[in-house]
Amino acid sequence: MNNEKNIIYLNGQYKPVEEATVSVMDRGFLFGDGVYEIIPVFGNNMLRIDEHLSRLQNSLNRISLPNPHSTEQWLDIFSDLLKKNPVENSDNSRAVYLQVSRGVYPKRDLVIKPEYSPTIFSMVLQITPPDIERVSAGISVITIDDFRWGACDIKSTSLVANVMLKQQAVTAEVDDAILIKNNIISEGTASNVFLVKNDVLITPPTGHELLTGITRELVIEIAKNNTILVEEREIKEAELYNADEIWMTSSTREIAPVIRLNDKLVGSGSAGKMWKRIVDLYQQQK
Ligand code: PDD
Repeated sequence: MNNEKNIIYLNGQYKPVEEATVSVMDRGFLFGDGVYEIIPVFGNNMLRIDEHLSRLQNSLNRISLPNPHSTEQWLDIFSDLLKKNPVENSDNSRAVYLQVSRGVYPKRDLVIKPEYSPTIFSMVLQITPPDIERVSAGISVITIDDFRWGACDIKSTSLVANVMLKQQAVTAEVDDAILIKNNIISEGTASNVFLVKNDVLITPPTGHELLTGITRELVIEIAKNNTILVEEREIKEAELYNADEIWMTSSTREIAPVIRLNDKLVGSGSAGKMWKRIVDLYQQQK
C-alpha cells in the first residue's frame, strides 16, 4: 500500500496514518473497549450503508456508549475519506473501517465515566475483491469449539478469541473454521455460515452467539426474492456432514463456498449450483 495516500480520520482530523497516534490510556488499547464496522465500497457506493450504521448503533447501545456522530456526520467523514484515498489500482476495491472506543481516561478503571469523549477512528482499506474464478475453487475449513462469550452480536474490537480461533485454522493449514457451541453451529471466525440441503437455504438465527452479518441479511433477502426457501434455525453440527453445500459470508469475503470440511468433501467437492445462482444475484447488488 502506498502510505503517502493513506489518509485516516481521527477525532475530527484527517491526517496521514503514520502521523496518527492514540494515547496508551485509551480504553480501546487497554481493554478492547470499543466497537467497529467494515463497509464494502464498490466504486463510490457503500454497500448497505444504512444497515451498517444501524448495526453500529446496536453495538454502541449494547456497550452503553453514545453514538458520537449523526448519520450525516458519518456519511460526510466516509465521503471525505473515500475522496482522499482513491482506489490504488484497478484490481482493488475499497472498504471503510470505522471504530469507536470509550476514549482516554486518566486512570485504568473498568467503571464507565460518561464525561470522557470517545476515540473516533476511520480509515479506508484497499482490498483485493474476491475474484469469482478463484472463489469458486472453494475453501477448506475445520470445526472448532466456540469458546467465545455470550455477546457475539456486538461487533466488538475485543477480537482476541477470534484471533486464537483463526490461528487454530491457520495451524491446521485450512482457510477458516466453523465454530460449534454445544453441538450447534454459531458462525465463522469472521463470517456467517449457510448450509444448503435439498434446495433449502439454512442459517443459524440471530442472537447472542453470532454477529448479524449484513452479507447474511442480503443473502437471505436475495434468496427470498427469488423464491428460494430459507430457514433461520439452530443447525446441529451433524447436519454439516450431510449438507449439499456450505458457504461462509462476510463483507470482505462475500460468499465463499466450502468444499472441504474436516478433510472430507462437502457435497460434490466443488462450488454448488445454489451458490452459483446466489453469487450471480449478489453481484447485481454492487
Ligand atoms: N467481519 N461474524 C463475524 C464474527 C464477523 O467478524 C463478521 C464480519 C461477520 C459477517 O458480517 P458482515 O457480513 O456484516 O461483514 C460475521 C468483518 C468483515 C471483519 O471483521 O473482518
